[in-house]
Amino acid sequence: NWSMDDFIDLQIEHIRETVGDKRVLLGLSGGVDSSVVGVLLHKAIGTQLTSIFVDHGLLRKGEAEQVMASLEGKFGLNIVKVDAQDRFLSKLAGVTEPEKKRKIIGNEFIQVFNDEAQKLDGIDFLAQGTLYTDVIESGTDTAQTIKSHHNVGGLPEDMHFQLIEPLRSLFKDEARELGEKLGMPSDLVWRQPFPGPGLGIRVLGEITPEKLQIVRDSDLILREEIKKAGLDRDIWQYFTVLPNIKSVGVMGDGRTYDYAVGIRAVTSIDGMTADFARIPWDVLQEISVRIVNEVDHVNRILYDVTSKPPSTIEWE
Ligand code: XMP
Repeated sequence: NWSMDDFIDLQIEHIRETVGDKRVLLGLSGGVDSSVVGVLLHKAIGTQLTSIFVDHGLLRKGEAEQVMASLEGKFGLNIVKVDAQDRFLSKLAGVTEPEKKRKIIGNEFIQVFNDEAQKLDGIDFLAQGTLYTDVIESGTDTAQTIKSHHNVGGLPEDMHFQLIEPLRSLFKDEARELGEKLGMPSDLVWRQPFPGPGLGIRVLGEITPEKLQIVRDSDLILREEIKKAGLDRDIWQYFTVLPNIKSVGVMGDGRTYDYAVGIRAVTSIDGMTADFARIPWDVLQEISVRIVNEVDHVNRILYDVTSKPPSTIEWE
């Protein structure tokens, strides 16, 4: 009779047996899966776990602070936080092609992670938040050919770690249940999926600090309003994108020529297929009004009404 409590006990026992007195490294992304692995491992082996959290400057507003406050502050994980914003932004300057952007972010990520990992001694294991769906997906590489996916904590090539993947047999909802059982706060456990390349693929075309700011600020407003409307658990993913379009508007007596912001919101089971979310008009109106009023350089809001297929969830 399978229960999550048994699962936790068994995993902890198994992790302790495997690791012995050795050290484990974990790449934290701020997402649900790696966070749950972090808390589980910390429970099993405490200070033998070291986590690396790379802030690539492409995270959502407040995200890095929240991860640190919760996982380090509340759960006591030992986290090496790397502020690599400048490194990523300078590598991305002038690059507009989506696949090129993805590759740069993915490669840079592995390098930053490697650089930090080299500084640590005597690490034998690398922990990852691989889920059952990831195991299936990497078996058939159709998804990979559409977009080159990047996952945090990808195995550094020249290091020889043994992998620890305690979530390998779980689906996303089970990973969330596990997180709740471990006492993690619901805003962390119920966090929507967030892609490895982060906001880098939500600023379409060239990434600049100004554009990142627009996406960050508008995204926070969207999240606040979706939560306020009580829709945050029904919608699989909801975020804003900046599609490099400027258009004419009018504010007060003046003409404006500013950015349009796109809203993407989908319902889905596993992200493989998705349907655009039927957000009520009045909620959309509130979001639209707030973004235009509160975010500089935005004068128009678009709502994406395509499903997957034929569209993908992310715009790049
Ligand atoms: P698409 O855009 O392909 O996205 O329909 C499907 C799901 O995958 C997420 N996504 C990623 N996740 N690394 C990730 O870990 C990535 O490079 C990546 N690209 C897209 C996307 O947010 C959606 O949930």
